[in-house]
Amino acid sequence: MPINTVVFDAYGTLFDVAAAARIAAAEPGREAFAQAWPRIAGTWRLKQLQYSWLRAVADAHTDFWQVTADGLDYALEAAGMGDDAELRERLLALYWELSAFPEVPAMLAALKTAGVETAILSNGSPDMLDGAVRSAGIGAHMDAVLSVESVGVFKPHRSVYDLVGQRFGRGADTVLFVSSNGWDAAAAAGYGFRTVWVNRAGDPLDRLPWVPEETLPDLTSIPEMAARL
Ligand code: LAC
Repeated sequence: MPINTVVFDAYGTLFDVAAAARIAAAEPGREAFAQAWPRIAGTWRLKQLQYSWLRAVADAHTDFWQVTADGLDYALEAAGMGDDAELRERLLALYWELSAFPEVPAMLAALKTAGVETAILSNGSPDMLDGAVRSAGIGAHMDAVLSVESVGVFKPHRSVYDLVGQRFGRGADTVLFVSSNGWDAAAAAGYGFRTVWVNRAGDPLDRLPWVPEETLPDLTSIPEMAARL
């Protein structure tokens, strides 16, 4: 079946989640953070995701903003910076205006020119996603922004992936799902979507029961792939 809908994960896929820590580290007066930021950003992301999965299996949902703040609090305390309230506030503020990866606007424009429908499907809360889409200036290229808040559970719960069919009314085998999170791309493949894992860092394949169909180093060739599959 030809691909008529391309659905993107948001954080790490369209939006550069490391940008918040990278920008804060370059600001004056943050010498200690500038030394430690890559490790803190990694721990922040890992804890944010762990808390999303733990809350999903424990049936204790909260929104992604809460798990983002909780993950940051853990990461700052682990680095001995748990008392720096100003740094915490700055990092959280920067998370609302993450930049998109450089290839994103042209890639989305090419999909729209080809007549393909586009969407975001994300753990992010609607207001977080609204802020990121606005600051990246990609709203005009998006047909839908779908948040897990509609179903009250995080990825990779199947009810999240169901949101795509509910919105577009198309079979899963006509949807190309694109994520930089290996576990998300794998679970989406298990769900029945066509899948691309965007593996910018050259990470190993996640050991899960499903495997993403394609792997790419960035998003540049997504329009070409959507036309070919
Ligand atoms: C999201 C996270 C998983 O946007 O990156 O859903």
